[in-house]
Amino acid sequence: MIYLIVSDIHSNQPALDQVLATEKADEVLFLGDIIGYGASPEYCYQKFRDLGGKGVMGNHEYGAVRPDTLVHFSENAMLGVLHSMKVLSKENLDHMQRLPETLKIGDLLLCHTMLGHPLEFPYVFPQDKDSLYLKESFQRMAKEEIQVIFTGHTHKPCIFKQLPDGSIETYKTAQGELFLDEQRYVINAGSVGQPRNGSPLAHYVLYDTKLRKVTFRSVSYDVDLAAKKIREAGLPDFLADRLYRGI
Ligand SMILES: [Fe+2]
Repeated sequence: MIYLIVSDIHSNQPALDQVLATEKADEVLFLGDIIGYGASPEYCYQKFRDLGGKGVMGNHEYGAVRPDTLVHFSENAMLGVLHSMKVLSKENLDHMQRLPETLKIGDLLLCHTMLGHPLEFPYVFPQDKDSLYLKESFQRMAKEEIQVIFTGHTHKPCIFKQLPDGSIETYKTAQGELFLDEQRYVINAGSVGQPRNGSPLAHYVLYDTKLRKVTFRSVSYDVDLAAKKIREAGLPDFLADRLYRGI
């Protein structure tokens, strides 16, 4: 089985379409934040459902179905969620309410952030290998027989690996292959629609369950079109401009 694993699409239709046109996979798994920031939440959410609807709640979906949580958002993020709430069909907003916090598939788990606090959405950046949230995730993985968590939220692809002595190593990467050994991993797939690792490409991963191989990939897409749609939707220029810089 080959999974295409995508995170933080953020209503970026051109980026999502480019990733789906580039990769052949048996199934597509979504790590949350399908909506928010960009211009096309309805298109992206409907595509998620049409592709099987296997995915988890991100903080932007949670903001749309629980608007009381928007007080924790930046102004640009809040404007993006309000745009999503206006554009999304009632059917897709209803569907969004039922998104799970986590989704276990065999010995892998999908979670927008860290296990144990999924709806608090803590940020664990690539440099945060000493994060208590991260350590707790690894402890829970041992108890719940999970070998790998795929996560997003920071928009920065990376690998956290727990070594036999319990310590954690970090690897920043946006390209290349990783063959999983018997250790546990938390793998951040980066962002399809609003990368923040300095690369204005759509980032994602593939996971081959037979070879136990994770492949980090990125692909260029029509940033001009995505930015144009954001401006036409009346969203802040900053949200369009940042796509060119990947920040
Ligand atoms: Fe996000």
